[in-house]
Amino acid sequence: MLHTSKQDHSLLHRLIHVYPGKGGLLLNAPVEQPGLSKLSVIGLGYVGLPLALHFLEKGFEVRGIDSDSSKVEALAKGVSYLPDVPDNQIDAAIRSERFLATSDYSAVENSDAVVICVPTPLNSDHTPDLRYLHTVCRQLGGHLQTGQLVVLESSSYPGTTKEVLLPMLEQQGFRVGEDLFLAYSPERIDPGNKAYTVEQIPKVVSGVTAACRARIVQLYGQAFEHVVPVSSTETAEMVKMLENTYRFVNISLIHELLLVCDSIHVDLWEVIRAASTKPYGFSPFFPGPGIGGHCIPVDPLYLQWKAKQLQIELSLIAESERINNRMPEYVAGEILRLLTGARSVLVYGVTYKRDINDVRESPALRILEVLSSSGVNVRYHDPYVPEIELHGQRFRSVDLSEDQLSQVEGVVILTDHTVLPVQFLLDHASWVYDARNATEGYSGEARIFRLGGRVCP
Ligand SMILES: NC(=O)c1ccc[n+]([C@@H]2O[C@H](COP(=O)([O-])OP(=O)(O)OC[C@H]3O[C@@H](n4cnc5c(N)ncnc54)[C@H](O)[C@@H]3O)[C@@H](O)[C@H]2O)c1
Repeated sequence: MLHTSKQDHSLLHRLIHVYPGKGGLLLNAPVEQPGLSKLSVIGLGYVGLPLALHFLEKGFEVRGIDSDSSKVEALAKGVSYLPDVPDNQIDAAIRSERFLATSDYSAVENSDAVVICVPTPLNSDHTPDLRYLHTVCRQLGGHLQTGQLVVLESSSYPGTTKEVLLPMLEQQGFRVGEDLFLAYSPERIDPGNKAYTVEQIPKVVSGVTAACRARIVQLYGQAFEHVVPVSSTETAEMVKMLENTYRFVNISLIHELLLVCDSIHVDLWEVIRAASTKPYGFSPFFPGPGIGGHCIPVDPLYLQWKAKQLQIELSLIAESERINNRMPEYVAGEILRLLTGARSVLVYGVTYKRDINDVRESPALRILEVLSSSGVNVRYHDPYVPEIELHGQRFRSVDLSEDQLSQVEGVVILTDHTVLPVQFLLDHASWVYDARNATEGYSGEARIFRLGGRVCP
């Protein structure tokens, strides 16, 4: 899929046409090299696998590298481990003979570009853990080739690309901007969200130099509908921090207001719905059992760490973290107040949001822990999570049957998967505690208690 220089010019025109403001920067660094056609993606998780498959669909030859051999083996057999990616998509990828999943870093040698999508979690002291990024750079040693473009997609604090990645690559003998190109693009994928395809989500991009930026604009312009070039990699990194800190802080505001609404018997969901009718200046955020996943609870703390290095205190982030972190205990407390006799519950959904199989940082785990350590007999059902481990104790997802419901005092909805059978629960449970407002508009035999709803236990 090599592009002619005529195609390159039409691509450049399209980008400048879509984003004439900042896109104008590109005029200073015209794309002169031929189209890119071979890509390596490092880290085939929630971000890397959909990205790899997307580039494949766009005609690229894609090598996916993952250190987890069980993932590589599953992919080689045509089996997916992500709910968003069906097996037949993996099967088609393998049959295309343009996709290879491997743990062998020599696969990057024949690529035009290498995109890094490894985890960026927190250390136990809440500081950035860039261990995965360091390992990737070490493993790339001896395999990177002159002229390649390296793109970081993992979320991190502003400065990571230049202060952490660039020196590690230059130690390998390259001059970034001359014989190796380095860029950053924050990943905005929203697993479980069917409203936007990977291609439709605009890609913010930047490079360490103008030549680096021109190369990522070219590469991503071949695969995404909208490419948004910004002036520096720090700007692109800060975009991701802003987006997720914005959610983090606004969700904490809703969680704070929830306490007031529950006390004065005002339905917070109704309040949010009515406020959302304002045509400007208001964006809705919703309460829940807490925040989870590897983005919203993590990225603001990356930013907070960076600010601390600059002797700047981000007190709003600190306070938001405190408020969000107390939600699982609050919800567990509400459930404990409902329990009277047998003290047994069935929890529906343990993932941190709907339609995914990811339990990282999920508030449901903390709620199960609190209930369990308070002597409650807890069982759970999650169509995406067959088993979980809590402090060495294994729990297996039980069937959602009338028999199971007859054995428990009540049901707790912590995740509103699309397949959640609300009516079935309301017809067969004695009571339902609903932390997601999934039961609004339904009625049945069960008494309903909604987090943030007017009726409290
Ligand atoms: N999950 C999301 O919704 C989401 C959204 C936007 C951004 N992000 C960011 O994207 C990055 C990746 O997140 P994710 O959710 O895809 O993580 P993930 O854990 O699902 O996937 C990461 C993959 O990298 C692999 N890996 C780890 N070290 C490796 C190495 N040295 N070499 C090769 N493979 C290696 C792991 O085995 C894993 O399969 C993080 O920075 C995250 O914050 C995630």
